[in-house]
Amino acid sequence: MSYADAVRVGVLTGGGDCPGLNAVIRAIVRKAERHYHDEVVGILDAWDGIRQRRTMPLTVEQLRGFLPRGGTLLGTRRGSPFDHEGHVDEVTDSIAELGLDALIVIGGNGTLSVANRLHGDHGVPIVGVPKTIDNDIVGTDQTFGFDTAVQIATDAIDRLHTTAESHDRVLVVEVMGRHSGWIALYAAIGGGATAVLIPELRYDINQVCERLIVRHERGRYASIVVVAEGTEPPADSDMSPDKEYDQFGHVRLGGISELIARQIGDGTGYETRVVNLGHVQRGGTPTAFDRVLSTRYGLAAIDAVHDAAFGQMVVLSGTQIERAPMAIAAGKSRPVDMALYREIADLFFV
Ligand code: F6P
Repeated sequence: MSYADAVRVGVLTGGGDCPGLNAVIRAIVRKAERHYHDEVVGILDAWDGIRQRRTMPLTVEQLRGFLPRGGTLLGTRRGSPFDHEGHVDEVTDSIAELGLDALIVIGGNGTLSVANRLHGDHGVPIVGVPKTIDNDIVGTDQTFGFDTAVQIATDAIDRLHTTAESHDRVLVVEVMGRHSGWIALYAAIGGGATAVLIPELRYDINQVCERLIVRHERGRYASIVVVAEGTEPPADSDMSPDKEYDQFGHVRLGGISELIARQIGDGTGYETRVVNLGHVQRGGTPTAFDRVLSTRYGLAAIDAVHDAAFGQMVVLSGTQIERAPMAIAAGKSRPVDMALYREIADLFFV
């Protein structure tokens, strides 16, 4: 078989869900079916589904209406077949059994690491599509889902301004961002926050309080402080060092904003409240920007399959969709653009 011919290609979504996943799948299927005359097989529930051969046929007809739908019609799971004895063999056996010529894997850092190992060590023909609301994948200028998450967080901050102002309160808003503060930084800029705290920088609570006090002295009583969930508490804080982990060994984040709100209350005497946006940032319909980016990623991914560009993922470089080795993303995280942070921070943030 040559990849110039029609192929039978599997598609799976792994890791946390993200607005735009269905738009990627839709674009893959449309070009695969209409342009290449391929057969597309949807793999249910990520690596579990492939091992257990749980699949569904994917056709243009069937995907009607899915462009604006959040989540993933294929289902998704965290976890790696490399963490369980025999699971990698089950994955490779299934790929042969299902007669797949190639696999398109849509996922974040963890899923792309698995895909990279399956390709590098086991010769599985895989093309990657980078996905996460956190926007922290090395090799691409933007992941789909990020724009939607930022919009949701910004809308929430707009609403929080009016209640904060009515009560003369400080509102500490926690957003997602496990290793990087992209959502926090963009939402803080877009929402006109007073301060932003991100995992890339140790925060100084005295500096935060001073800023709030200066604002109050100028007559601006209400303030919004945006905090990325992965922000580390100072070493001497009373935040419990005991971390909770999920079944896949991921530390369960969330709660740093409670500590920061307490510190702000103690340091300023101002009434302070916490809002943790949580999974609402990952749910619902993708923005137009994310639908466009997802569609371009999907089209580029099926092209990459037909170029036999295995081990590569599709990426956004400036305004162009290009390819980059999945290996550069595996197990890494892309920090926020510190030049942007500094430019904004001097004028707007602590
Ligand atoms: O999708 C990435 C992410 O949103 C992180 O920012 C967050 O820490 C994590 O997923 C939460 O995942 P889960 O759905 O497993 O709680």
